[in-house]
Amino acid sequence: MVLTRAIFFLFLLGLTSCGADSSVKNNDALPIETPAEKGASLYTVNCTSCHGEDGKMGGSGAKDLSKSQLSDKQIKKILRKGKNAMPPMSAILENEENMDFVIQHIKTLRK
Ligand code: HEC
Repeated sequence: MVLTRAIFFLFLLGLTSCGADSSVKNNDALPIETPAEKGASLYTVNCTSCHGEDGKMGGSGAKDLSKSQLSDKQIKKILRKGKNAMPPMSAILENEENMDFVIQHIKTLRK
């Protein structure tokens, strides 16, 4: 467990040290994103095409995430296996930590 965390942070460091990431517009941004920031950017990249920035878009019949009542466990299952028009997302999210960051982020979209 400690080892996977260490590897994950090395991975994050590797990502941020590249410096060529043109999506980073804010020069004041911390070199390592907080879990909340990481969750928000993973969501923006992988989920907004169907769910929209606020979770309400409903593209391709996507559920309104601001109204979703699912538990972390239920969300995780959908991210792993997909559901109807929603494809599985676990490969894109790469690892368990990223999945948790995204789950925490979508729960902030709830009203
Ligand atoms: C290709 C479009 C598409 C993308 C991309 C997508 N989703 Fe979905 N999502 C859907 C659809 C469609 C549903 C409704 C599935 C159903 O119940 O029929 C859904 C449902 C969900 C639900 C269940 C909501 C509920 O209360 O039932 C969650 C949670 C969710 N998506 C999270 C995500 C996250 C997080 C991402 C990004 C990692 C993502 N989705 C990316 C289309 C998408």
